[in-house]
Amino acid sequence: MTERQAGRLVAISGIDGSGKTTLCETVRRELARRTPVRVLAPMKLPCHLRTLALKLHFPDAGDERRREQFIADVISWTLRHNGEEVIGPALWSGQTVLADRWVADHVASQRLFGVTVDPSREPLAGLGAPDMHYLVTVPVELALRRIEQRDEARIAHEQDWEFLQLFQDELQAELPGARKLEGHLPVAQLAAEVLEDLGIVQ
Ligand SMILES: Nc1ncnc2c1ncn2[C@@H]1O[C@H](COP(=O)(O)OP(=O)(O)O)[C@@H](O)[C@H]1O
Ligand SMILES: [Mg+2]
Repeated sequence: MTERQAGRLVAISGIDGSGKTTLCETVRRELARRTPVRVLAPMKLPCHLRTLALKLHFPDAGDERRREQFIADVISWTLRHNGEEVIGPALWSGQTVLADRWVADHVASQRLFGVTVDPSREPLAGLGAPDMHYLVTVPVELALRRIEQRDEARIAHEQDWEFLQLFQDELQAELPGARKLEGHLPVAQLAAEVLEDLGIVQ
């Protein structure tokens, strides 16, 4: 993924409940009328592969540091895998790729679990930078309300509030150059901004 590609990679970062997936889908719908586009969550593996990875080598209980490190490694290699096997070919074939989270989301969240992920070293070094990178910021109270509405069984606790606040702070530190989008605004307005940056006037 280091050489020039025909398509463009647009990364959307932000805490859970900030509206990333909704934004990706809204941009995708609008873009799809004019150009080939795909949405991908590059930190995610299909469930069966994730289960397989964790079953293969999950360190024994009691060694929490190694467990956290192992999970971080699985996600790092997932990003690398998706970068090489899915995103690279899509870009080469001229598709616009909307990435629902990117390396910064991984680095920032792992820091909260006490794991240092270095994006300049393998396996992440080969990924390259997105052509456009957005950070969706949102008041944490709003993110938690949305999460509760979206996931019916989920009840937000005090530690969720703290986690999301720290996560958002870490993301801001990790992405000083990203374009900021205010996630409390209507999604159509946020999508219009991204589309305009992509040269699409609605
Ligand atoms: N801009 C927005 N305005 C109002 N509600 C939104 C907005 N973006 C997302 N939502 C709602 O908030 C919830 C969480 O959004 P989602 O896109 O799943 O967030 P994320 O992918 O960042 O976790 C969803 O139920 C969605 O319908
Ligand atoms: Mg999402």
